[in-house]
Amino acid sequence: MSSAETPRGATETAHAPTAAGALSSIDFRGQVAVITGGGTGLGLEISRALAELGAHVWIASRSADHHRAFLDECTARGWSGTARVLDVRETAQVGALAREVDERHGRCDILVNNAAGNFVCPSERLSERAWRAVLGIVLDGSFYCSRDFGRVMIARGGGQILNVLATYAWTGMPGVVHSACAKAGVLAMTRTLAVEWARHGIRVNAVAPGPFQSDGARANLWPDEEHERRLRERIPLQRFADPREVAAQCVWLLAPASAYLNGECVTIDGGASLGQGMWEQGAGIRRQRGD
Ligand code: HXC
Ligand code: NAP
Repeated sequence: MSSAETPRGATETAHAPTAAGALSSIDFRGQVAVITGGGTGLGLEISRALAELGAHVWIASRSADHHRAFLDECTARGWSGTARVLDVRETAQVGALAREVDERHGRCDILVNNAAGNFVCPSERLSERAWRAVLGIVLDGSFYCSRDFGRVMIARGGGQILNVLATYAWTGMPGVVHSACAKAGVLAMTRTLAVEWARHGIRVNAVAPGPFQSDGARANLWPDEEHERRLRERIPLQRFADPREVAAQCVWLLAPASAYLNGECVTIDGGASLGQGMWEQGAGIRRQRGD
């Protein structure tokens, strides 16, 4: 065999589509997406992006006031969107929404488990109700939604679920034991359902963002500028994410280019969760020979 010959087993690629095709086909027309907590913060940015890319987007959370901005933008920009009041901890409400989406569209292509509750509290002072509030929203809520919308996806031949985590699911973080335990549970749920439901054509993935500004995070995690500054200094990129940067990553994971990604968690945190060894940022490196 001369070196110019196609090796045995190699595919003929001359006229086949290239990988660039998958990169340019980010199009959600005809798809139905459900975003919990889709009216504020990151959920709103995911909802806006998917709606602009053609999906019919259902947003669902406790407060109808939080739905106004998305619904108004849908009207103004000709997007297709619906909002429902829903507490993800209430199984009857979750089941009713899954039935409504199925009856209306006969499908559910995308579920984003984005709803969350969080606040900083020393673990020794955390009450049972406070622990339950966060575990209920993040862990129970993600499971109830995955189960009920997953049933629709199984019956209709497939779909995808994207869970929003935080890197402290595996690094841990003082003051948020409730949220860290709940997010770690959702990471296990991501991996478990990815394997269990792959045969139904359902992919399950996750994103773990670092800090970004949202009303909920500002009120509950970094209530003043000093907290915010200290947090920012620990991020190698020296800034918080723009929620649209995180939403873009979420859309990418839901797009055809990610069709073989399953059970994975993508960290998008500017390098914040990587180890910095013993050095403060920049220190030590300056103490090189000759400096
Ligand atoms: C201590 C608190 C508390 C606090 C509430 N509780 N806030 N305990 N410190 N700051 C206690 C209450 O006293 C009560 O316990 C129990 O929690 C339940 O309180 P409710 O107000 O009845 O709960 P509920 O109405 O269900 O509200 C849920 C919530 C709230 C989680 C408490 O914060 C919320 O609605 N959050 C949604 C928005 C949000 O948190 N977004 C942030 C996402 S950022 P007792 O025993 O007193 O009855 C994020 C990741 C950030 O998740 C990562 C950054 C790196
Ligand atoms: P956010 O704007 O406060 O979003 C939380 C959303 O959850 C709200 O829309 C809220 O709407 C909804 N929600 C809360 N409890 C609910 C319940 N019981 N049932 C239904 N919906 C409920 O905060 P965010 O910062 O954008 O957070 C979005 C996601 O990113 C969360 O999963 C969070 O853990 C994650 N995250 C955030 C950061 C950050 O720095 N901000 C970092 C890492 C991960 P209602 O109040 O209307 O119910």
